[in-house]
Amino acid sequence: MRLVDAARNPAGCAPATYGEGERPPRGDYTRAGADYCCEQDWASYSEAEHALYQRLHARQCALLDGHACDAFVRALAHLGPAERIPRFERVSDRLEAATGWRLVAVPGLIPEEAFFSLLARRRFPVTDWLRRPEEFDYIVEPDLFHDLFGHVPLLFEPVFADFMQAYGAGAMKASGLGACELLARLYWYTVEFGLIASPDGWRAYGAGLLSSGSELVHAVRATGPRRLAFDMHRMMRSRYRIDSFQPTYFVIDSFEDLFRACEPDFTPLYERVKQSIQASGEIEAGQAATGDRPALQA
Ligand SMILES: [Fe+2]
Repeated sequence: MRLVDAARNPAGCAPATYGEGERPPRGDYTRAGADYCCEQDWASYSEAEHALYQRLHARQCALLDGHACDAFVRALAHLGPAERIPRFERVSDRLEAATGWRLVAVPGLIPEEAFFSLLARRRFPVTDWLRRPEEFDYIVEPDLFHDLFGHVPLLFEPVFADFMQAYGAGAMKASGLGACELLARLYWYTVEFGLIASPDGWRAYGAGLLSSGSELVHAVRATGPRRLAFDMHRMMRSRYRIDSFQPTYFVIDSFEDLFRACEPDFTPLYERVKQSIQASGEIEAGQAATGDRPALQA
């Protein structure tokens, strides 16, 4: 098993892991089964952890208006009261009734094959430990708050839920094609840091933005970042930043567009992207490229 490269994965990270980690991931993996899933030991959360979750939830909710997409805001209540860390089983029961997905607890980042396999079966892995108080504004690895608050509400949105399963199924095929890094870039620029056009302007749907106390507003409002129209080929050629705000965001028009783009067999696309990289190289994070299409405000 490859070690998760925790040092290279900040909150909002892609699930795929590359290379050998300098240090082991933070969670207790002895509790996990062969599929990396474990029990959420809800009784072990301290009062201080429940209070920290509540503070994180409140801080983030104060930022959502005008920055988060409507579907996320509508679904957020499904997580339940913010006073306590949610029990995954209870959220799962509501989620399964809505879209057929369930949450599974994991000790932290898991290898890409296990992650993709869970998604393909409509299972979303949620880290079961919460950051420390001193990590309120920034945490290196994704924790319970990032995974639950950032990712889970949109799994209540039927089209997005279908996209996530299609992504997992496509990624499992890709693992035999040497294209996992390309798929990780797609995940990064959509599921983690994606923007969606709305009649009122750009809004975030990416979990890395929605769970961030600072990049959410930056991604939607700042004049500096490059915002490009959704372009799978461009995303897969593009490197990304893990140590600062993204210099480039991609904007989808709808979740239907995202799902439709991920339905076909990606094999021909991988080949085209690999040929482009061989011929012209990767596109550095924030770099302009020939053929770039700026995202238009509605
Ligand atoms: Fe994430």
